[in-house]
Amino acid sequence: MKERLENIREEALQAISAADVPEKLNDVRVRFLGKKGELTAVLKGMKAVAPEDRPKVGQMVNETRAAIEKVLEDSKSKMERAIREEKMKREVIDVTLPAKKNMVGHRHPNTIALEEVERIFIGMGYEVVEGPEVEYDLYNFEKLNIPADHPAKDEQDTFYINKDIVLRTQTSPVQARVMEQGKLPIRMIAPGRVFRSDEVDATHSPSFHQIEGLVIDKNISFSDLKGTLEVFAKELFGEDTKTKFRPHHFPFTEPSAEVDVSCFKCKGKGCRFCKGSGWIEILGCGMVHPHVLEMCGIDPEEYTGFAFGVGLERIALLKYEIDDMRLLYENDIRFLKQF
Ligand code: DAH
Repeated sequence: MKERLENIREEALQAISAADVPEKLNDVRVRFLGKKGELTAVLKGMKAVAPEDRPKVGQMVNETRAAIEKVLEDSKSKMERAIREEKMKREVIDVTLPAKKNMVGHRHPNTIALEEVERIFIGMGYEVVEGPEVEYDLYNFEKLNIPADHPAKDEQDTFYINKDIVLRTQTSPVQARVMEQGKLPIRMIAPGRVFRSDEVDATHSPSFHQIEGLVIDKNISFSDLKGTLEVFAKELFGEDTKTKFRPHHFPFTEPSAEVDVSCFKCKGKGCRFCKGSGWIEILGCGMVHPHVLEMCGIDPEEYTGFAFGVGLERIALLKYEIDDMRLLYENDIRFLKQF
């Protein structure tokens, strides 16, 4: 028996020294110490050993097991250390190399302009709200006093999801949505993406952005509108900016106006920028039509209000003197970095 155990130990040690990768060491462990291994077989054969010799044989088996285990462990840690050292050698880091620059991109002119507009209106106590880009015809047109056969619908042809649902052509539907909630007074701006079936050129895109404004309270008059937009224009384009209100027509406001600002490039003298007129058109506005108030559940005898709509790209193009809108959508970092 003793001899058999010595043979097993001898064979195991040989197999261990022949192993060159950790997997092979594991094979050795299974072969000699595993459940079906050779040492276990010896234990299973104990029945054949005389009972008085059993403790002695058991002790020898345990000694052999311990000896094999110790050599296995030693070889394993030696092998792992060698692998680790080899890996370290392969992965030497040259700390003198210049670091890789992390490109974090740049804020888009639209974003910069929007944050500026938001800052101005938040400063005047406005709330910033959002509405859906996929909108019911009911909100985009109907509740803004633009019934099915209204010619204004031709100017704002868009993408129809179905007969009743469109990609919104303007941010004005957010007015109706907020008014309907019935919380008065209202002082809000609603920025967002809008859509029209327009061909792409230097001043048009099938998708662009607007910022809607709405104020509803008791005793709001056209002079409040004028004062508000004057402050806005001065903050955005400079303290010496003048504003001009030209009569216009929008179905959902009465009276309506378009607002021009004095050209901040030539101070109104006339230049290439303002096409010689000294003025630049920036937005549409007006007093909310009583019919619109009524359709949104507000009593026009008690409440009045004003609204306005600004094109965000228009502001960005003007403010940063960009002469082609397409540049805003290419997202070329060399272009964006300039602002
Ligand atoms: N929604 C209009 C458009 O897209 C812009 C506009 C004009 C908005 C007058 C208003 C407004 O709120 O009062 O052309």
